[in-house]
Amino acid sequence: MTRSGRADYGRDMHAITTREPGGPEVLEWTEVPDPEPGPGEVLLDVAATAVNRADLLQRQGFYPPPPGASEVIGLECSGTVAALGEGVTGWRVGDEVCALLAGGGYAERVAVPAAQLLPVPAGVDLVTAASLPEVACTVWSNVVMLAGLGKGDVLLVHGGSGGVGTHAIQVGRALGATVAVTAGSAERLARCRELGADIAINYREQDFVEEVRGATGGHGADVVLDNMGAKYLARNVDVLATDGHLVVIGMQGGRKAELDLGKLLPKRGSVSAVGLRGRPVDGPNGKAEIVADVRARLWPLIESGTVRPVVHEVLPVRRAGDAHRALDAGGVFGKLVLRVR
Ligand SMILES: NC(=O)c1ccc[n+]([C@@H]2O[C@H](COP(=O)([O-])OP(=O)(O)OC[C@H]3O[C@@H](n4cnc5c(N)ncnc54)[C@H](OP(=O)(O)O)[C@@H]3O)[C@@H](O)[C@H]2O)c1
Repeated sequence: MTRSGRADYGRDMHAITTREPGGPEVLEWTEVPDPEPGPGEVLLDVAATAVNRADLLQRQGFYPPPPGASEVIGLECSGTVAALGEGVTGWRVGDEVCALLAGGGYAERVAVPAAQLLPVPAGVDLVTAASLPEVACTVWSNVVMLAGLGKGDVLLVHGGSGGVGTHAIQVGRALGATVAVTAGSAERLARCRELGADIAINYREQDFVEEVRGATGGHGADVVLDNMGAKYLARNVDVLATDGHLVVIGMQGGRKAELDLGKLLPKRGSVSAVGLRGRPVDGPNGKAEIVADVRARLWPLIESGTVRPVVHEVLPVRRAGDAHRALDAGGVFGKLVLRVR
């Protein structure tokens, strides 16, 4: 049973689908059945979605959706509430929102648990809002809720030029931390500095352990947000400050490496490897808890303009293949958004 004010609800929609795992050319805009909002879910008319690195893996068949999630690629979107599933309160048909998704964003409509909705922040337009849920929930849950970054701490963000990185720099700065970043060129590092990075390290030319230690009087990093995994594990342990927390969220540099506990133990260091997509909605550390904290504590920073969305380009969703090529090629600074309607 759904409550909808729309006459066209229940017809088929269009979505980006993949006829088989492969390169960007397998992405096609095709007709698929309309999703049905289940109990506790809402149906959204999607205005825009955004590209995540995980989407490239899913397209290639390496990152299947969690059980029960849409097969359609897309971990976030913005749009308008089109129908309410049973038991949904607090949202109305017509509300403009953005949402954290387990899948289904590259489509005209998506069903999503109401607990994963966020209002479009004041001062951000509906299309741009699609760039926020994944980076906001990833950065806030790991850097703040898990690692407890605070005023005066040192935050090291690897890949400061990416979608997650550009957001993490601003959040770190807003919380009063000293922010160090790695990125792949002087031009990209200059843009990271404009966003608030204090220490800018070219990972192609410089050793981030030396640079962070040198710039912090030997202290190191209280929190490291890492996208590289295996390749950086040993050096991330080296750069950790006493009581520091390394949070690995990506494995761009591989998944297996040796961890030297003899270096970690005297520092009382913590290492976490953390995923967002596969978490349950409810319960401790679930998506509902993260989204609620993001709304309560991070959204005001976005509404005040302290933390801004960083959008590299907006493309029509039919050009999702071009967007995937661009992300793969490097050179994207911040997020790529796909306009759906
Ligand atoms: N665990 C989770 O829940 C979760 C959630 C969201 C994202 N992620 C992961 O987090 C990572 C970042 O996501 P994203 O959306 O920001 O991706 P993105 O926009 O594609 O950014 C990737 C970044 O990686 C950087 N990079 C490449 N080689 C590097 C190296 N050797 N050292 C340091 N940085 C390097 C790039 O820097 P240059 O372009 O300057 O070279 C770029 O900034 C991805 O691995 C993604 O899968 C995980």
